[in-house]
Amino acid sequence: MGRFDGKRVVLGVTGSISCFKAAQLCSTLVQTGADVDVILTAAAREFLTPLTFQSLTRRPVYTSLYDVLPDLSSAHVALGAQADVLLICPASATTLARLAHGSAEDMLSCTALASKAPLVIAPAMNVNMWEHPATRANVALLRERGAIQVGPVVGHLAEGISAMGRLAPLEDVLAATRLALGRRPAWEGRRVVVTAGGTQEPLDPVRYIGNRSSGKMGYAIAEAARDRGARVSLIAGPTALPHPWGVEVRLAPTAREMLDAVLAACDGADALIMAAAVADYRPAGVAEHKIKKTGVGLELRLVQNPDIVATVHATYGDRLVKVGFAAESQDVLAEAGRKLDAKGLHLICANDVTEPGSGFGTDTNRVTLIGRNGWREDLPVMAKEAVADRILDRVEQLFS
Ligand code: CTP
Repeated sequence: MGRFDGKRVVLGVTGSISCFKAAQLCSTLVQTGADVDVILTAAAREFLTPLTFQSLTRRPVYTSLYDVLPDLSSAHVALGAQADVLLICPASATTLARLAHGSAEDMLSCTALASKAPLVIAPAMNVNMWEHPATRANVALLRERGAIQVGPVVGHLAEGISAMGRLAPLEDVLAATRLALGRRPAWEGRRVVVTAGGTQEPLDPVRYIGNRSSGKMGYAIAEAARDRGARVSLIAGPTALPHPWGVEVRLAPTAREMLDAVLAACDGADALIMAAAVADYRPAGVAEHKIKKTGVGLELRLVQNPDIVATVHATYGDRLVKVGFAAESQDVLAEAGRKLDAKGLHLICANDVTEPGSGFGTDTNRVTLIGRNGWREDLPVMAKEAVADRILDRVEQLFS
């Protein structure tokens, strides 16, 4: 998960029973670098005390429209003006109605009205309240004005039933907040295809030939592209990673399934980033039943898989920006340069998998970015999220 260093988050907490989760959210935001100013509505105060949030943020907590900041400026105006993002979690039906109609009758709704910061709403309520046409209309209006909505989801509600109305998982709320903070004009309306993970080529109903890719690099790129405001299709081999919020995920276990999915997704896309470790070979045939031990060795015949990114280049040419990866264990830069040319790439991210802190399964990577016409940038060992950002900085330059 990314960090929020230096970001000022106004966290509005309203009176839904799920508001106890806002304390955890607040703690995570603080731990990941954000300065968090908390506003509690009157209904939220029935469930939680200001002291909870004051202890987590070590800052004053605001509850009244007439609160003032330490410098005596009016909190409802000053907080909104200083905020990088206004995050309302959970957002009750009442607060959504106030926001939709500009009814500035309490500290939170007044701050929202007085702020130009992007708004994130995480609704949580009873299923009938959520489905009521009034709530639907209020949420639609807020979205039309640019609010980012995260959840609700189907799940256990306080009434003891499973239904729509449960607060979105906190990781999703944090992802929506990152999107609100990260949107950039160069990515508006862009469609980006990202592949991740390793393919698995079946031998029989039980076994496959695979590789050690964890998918972390590709998932980090998909999330970073989402944060910039792109519409992201993530096409992934089997991984243990959770589906990122706000990203369309399609699973493609084999190289040939990945090829079909990538070719379809690239039609009209602005960029393809091929972080997947695609198996170069697959078994010539898949046994119908589990292959049995016979007491002698087993010879496998393998046939070559299609090259996905080279096929995209042959199909769409330079209509989209194509980025590849070259995970090598020797002659790293020469091999990467050769692949850049052979596959029609605009950019290749080369890394030496034998180096510490680089390659499969790690949270960090050290890559050299190589572009056309000898362009090159050596990056130090960085978290995969930071590497993703540097790759996207280059893609953004290639867009223009
Ligand atoms: N790639 C691909 N389709 C394949 C194999 C690789 O699209 N069948 C992509 C990878 O996703 C990566 C780039 O091509 O972005 C380079 O992958 P790599 O495995 O390093 O290259 P290969 O062409 O397979 O070369 P070699 O195995 O000889 O190193």
